[in-house]
Amino acid sequence: MTQNENYNLLLLAGDGIGPEAMKEVKKIIAWLNDNTSATYSYDEDYIGGCAYDAYGTPLADETITKAKQSDAVILGAVGGPKWDGKTDYDLRPEAGLLKIRKELGLFANLRPAIVFDALVDASSLKPELVKGLDILIVRELTGGVYFGEPRGIETLENGERRGFNTQVYTTSEIRRIAEVAFDMAKKRGSFVTSCEKANVMESGVLWREEVTKLHKESHSDIRLEHMYADNCAMQLCRAPKQFDVIVTDNLFGDILSDEAAMLTGSLGMLPSASLGATDTQGSRHALYEPVHGSAPDIAGQNKANPLATILSFAMALRYSLHQGDYADLLEQAVQNVLNAGIRTADIAEAQHTAIGTSEMGDAVIKQLNISLENSKVA
Ligand code: IPM
Ligand code: MG
Repeated sequence: MTQNENYNLLLLAGDGIGPEAMKEVKKIIAWLNDNTSATYSYDEDYIGGCAYDAYGTPLADETITKAKQSDAVILGAVGGPKWDGKTDYDLRPEAGLLKIRKELGLFANLRPAIVFDALVDASSLKPELVKGLDILIVRELTGGVYFGEPRGIETLENGERRGFNTQVYTTSEIRRIAEVAFDMAKKRGSFVTSCEKANVMESGVLWREEVTKLHKESHSDIRLEHMYADNCAMQLCRAPKQFDVIVTDNLFGDILSDEAAMLTGSLGMLPSASLGATDTQGSRHALYEPVHGSAPDIAGQNKANPLATILSFAMALRYSLHQGDYADLLEQAVQNVLNAGIRTADIAEAQHTAIGTSEMGDAVIKQLNISLENSKVA
């Protein structure tokens, strides 16, 4: 374990349930400061609707600067009905999210879909189809149709309107995301499924060719399969355990990762990491956020499940803060909480009494204390 390290975080709690989930992450940070040799300091700022209210923009330039200077950004959620009417795309809460991804060059979005044993019945699929499920979606996050030019809505001479976006990928964009997928697969099940629509899109043909080339050049020890994205959507419902790592573009990744998340039945449990390129010193920009949204319907009521945000912080410990052991410890604490039948409303079954957001954070801290005691005894 790395000793005497000081880390600097930026917490962007955002809208809806973001702030209450982030409050529980702060408890974990305080615990780590009290009980480990590393020191974590943090700054806080706005993103999304709250940033629009405070600064008139969903992501201020100063916030981007702070994000670039931090070792990791932890994000809550953005959006809500209050800002839904915005017709100017650049002022919508979601634009803040897209902007921070682009500005920090966070091209690699890792979205694990894991079924915790204690929550196997929460899935809408049969338990035997999802028990032990552990897949990783590697989604390209700064290219494709989300950012391709030209884009817009124009009025034609005949008075009709025309909306258009451009799906575009270059060799280097495809290779760098495929590289991440192969690297991840090496640490897991050594199997990558690459998804596109090469049957209808040239960008998909290029995607398939470049992934195949890279595989031949430097990752032939990994099993590689190609699959059309629509088939992948179907296979995810039919037999999700056939997958290990799925690598795909921005738009297909958006859709397939929601589907994979739902297989677990508990959106409130799923973290994600968005990583930039590694610089010469071995560090990279990174942002960690739960897969779930801002859930405005339950915001401010101490009902939200903070575990996805806490598990996102665990990913930050692993990928940005060089504290893999503490990431393991935190993830184990979450498992123990679930095994003890402690549940927020979204994951509670008939036999459970649901607890609140803040109590869930306390339960994780309690488990961390128990692990610490046990390790002192051992
Ligand atoms: C996601 C979300 C975003 C996306 C939205 C909120 C812009 O759906 O992170 O998956 O489409 O990427
Ligand atoms: Mg999405």
